[in-house]
Amino acid sequence: MKTPVQGFSKLSKTEKIDWIATNCTKDPENTKRLLEQFWNADPKVQKLHDEFIENTISNYYLPFAIAPNFLINGDYLAIPMAIEESSVVAAASKAAKFWLERGGFKAEIIGTEKVGQVHFIYKGDKEKLSGFFNFVKPELLKSVASITQNMEKRGGGINNIELRDLSGKIKGYYQLHCTFETLDAMGANFINSCLEQFAKTLKEQALSFNAFTDKEKDIEIVMSILSNYVPNCLVKAEVSCPVSDLGNADMPSEEFAEKFVQAVNIANIEPYRAVTHNKGIMNGIDAVVLATGNDFRAVEAGVHAYAAKEGQYSSLTHAKIEDGIFKFWIEVPLALGTVGGLTSLHPLVKLALEILQNPTAKELMQIVAVAGLAQNFAAVRSLVTTGIQKGHMKMHLLNMLNQMGATESEKQQLVTYFKDQTVTNASVKEALEKIKSE
Ligand code: MEV
Repeated sequence: MKTPVQGFSKLSKTEKIDWIATNCTKDPENTKRLLEQFWNADPKVQKLHDEFIENTISNYYLPFAIAPNFLINGDYLAIPMAIEESSVVAAASKAAKFWLERGGFKAEIIGTEKVGQVHFIYKGDKEKLSGFFNFVKPELLKSVASITQNMEKRGGGINNIELRDLSGKIKGYYQLHCTFETLDAMGANFINSCLEQFAKTLKEQALSFNAFTDKEKDIEIVMSILSNYVPNCLVKAEVSCPVSDLGNADMPSEEFAEKFVQAVNIANIEPYRAVTHNKGIMNGIDAVVLATGNDFRAVEAGVHAYAAKEGQYSSLTHAKIEDGIFKFWIEVPLALGTVGGLTSLHPLVKLALEILQNPTAKELMQIVAVAGLAQNFAAVRSLVTTGIQKGHMKMHLLNMLNQMGATESEKQQLVTYFKDQTVTNASVKEALEKIKSE
């Protein structure tokens, strides 16, 4: 791109493609062909995707896969996952099968509270602001009645509005800290609409609050927005079994259990390890969050903030051995929805939810937490026994072979050959060359 483009969003899709292909790629015709190749064959489905975001020129595929055999609170589930990393689904499936034979996963909701804040500046007497808040609180609630009506009918709505004084940190800075119950919706639009109305009402009512001086009447709204930090929208998932049932061909059960607990303890106290440990958990969580059309950036931000809630970044999972029982669990905040957003729009999201038996948001929170726990179990299990590369490189083998231009029959032969060989870039290259020369 040599010069900026004016009015790009106003161009037609074809014009956008022409512009990008000509200005930013070496082979415009090939670029156009590639972009078109990824369009959906059904124009209606393509239009739907075009309209999800602005300036759509094609679709970006991720594999959509299934990790079967999860037993969660006594129910069997096949979990859909959207992810590009080669070993994730295999690891989840392996962990699911392992725990299927040991009573499965148990999951429970600890809380479902969502949060939003109106951030404002008030330069005046604190006592008077408190008095004003007590006066205005019912007005705030009244002012959002038309927004909350439907949510309230279903049992949700606004839980509380609190005035928080942060003027010790930033001069004149206060918040309306608001909590919500949004049931099966992730609730971002509902929360933000309520907050923006609260802000308007707060400002308006201050103007006519007699106890305020003119300066105090002039409340400055800085912003109104939900928080993706939801420490009280929390789910717990766990597995447990007698240590002797942990049977593992790579290591005696007791040694495995102790090493496993040690690895989790390390992630608890050592941030360098905790980040990677939690990254493995997010491999499972994000894949299900994405497949079910939820906002994985929101989930990521909230989860990592939760992992640092004690002042140091730490593990989301915990493990212990007590009276011969191995117990492994996760506690994780997850603001998810099974209605609204993409859930009824994206055909594959609809299918993913159907595969999961159309869960409520609470059920989906439990499923996602289980996917995270399973993923972490599989990763730590490999780490403390065979090392991660054995399984990882096996799964990566097909990517390597594709990159090296192997034919289908060469791939088949080499997948069989590498069942009991170490996979490295050099060993795969050598084996492929050998087959090609035969
Ligand atoms: C790789 O995507 C994830 C792991 O690094 C997680 C971990 O180390 O626990 C294997």
